[in-house]
Amino acid sequence: MKISVVHTIFFSPTHTSLRIADAIAEGMGTCEHKELDITYEKPVKNILIEEGVAVISVPVYGGRVAETAVERLRSIRGNNIPAVVAVVYGNRDYEDALIELRDIAKEQGFIPVSGGAFIGEHSYSRPDRPVAEGRPDKADIDTAFAFGSKTAAFLNDWSGEFIDLQVKGNFPYKVKGNKTPQTPVTISELCTQCGYCIEICPTQSIELQDGIVSDPESCIKCCACVKECPNQARVFETPFTDYLFKNFSSRRDPELFFSYRKI
Ligand SMILES: Cc1cc2nc3c(=O)[nH]c(=O)nc-3n(C[C@H](O)[C@H](O)[C@H](O)COP(=O)(O)O)c2cc1C
Repeated sequence: MKISVVHTIFFSPTHTSLRIADAIAEGMGTCEHKELDITYEKPVKNILIEEGVAVISVPVYGGRVAETAVERLRSIRGNNIPAVVAVVYGNRDYEDALIELRDIAKEQGFIPVSGGAFIGEHSYSRPDRPVAEGRPDKADIDTAFAFGSKTAAFLNDWSGEFIDLQVKGNFPYKVKGNKTPQTPVTISELCTQCGYCIEICPTQSIELQDGIVSDPESCIKCCACVKECPNQARVFETPFTDYLFKNFSSRRDPELFFSYRKI
């Protein structure tokens, strides 16, 4: 199969999943690239991807695919086209997220042919307690690029028949923990009420009332507002930061999986 177009499909509040998707797509070669960003809203209508290859990249939340990503991926279908599935996690563990993403891709009409678990700076990493700070770094991006190239080479002789992609993870998937209603807060002395956090919140959970406030019901704690506030006026204090810094600081490396052609 000659790859005519690569569709990157991503949910990426702090942009690490986006960077991995782009590196994989670039590794696939110089064909046309199309972007389907589901970070900021659910697609307004159902989308059918008819041709080419999809690269689907999402973050791991609690060892599973981030729930908002799952909801939004349900609006996208593939017309029996191959897909690369990638999860990005903050150096703790990806548990059942990759197998879950593989299964979602299948249910949505894609044929998962390769899968990868990559590392991105943890949403709860803070400069004084870094967790996977600055990742994906050059080595990660090179790995993602090579993974894209290898998948493209593999698809070159594709005739539509693959043995099911096997990846690490368990089914039934890990049970999700209870939702805790905490949100980032605003340091009013630093906040200029520029509204940027309102713009970039993936779940439209931030409003300007007397000051900038988050709705604990819809906030997904992705920390996009914390990491992107131009005045460092948004903070999210969670005991996870200490826990992750103490226990998950040693470097983990990407894990890659490939399907095999039927012979
Ligand atoms: C609510 C939440 C839960 C998370 N759970 C995990 C996890 O189970 N394992 C892990 O290693 N990282 C976890 N992370 C970190 C993210 O997977 C990681 O920072 C990822 O790079 C974020 O992707 P993005 O930059 O595309 O938003 C979690 C982050 C958030 C906000």
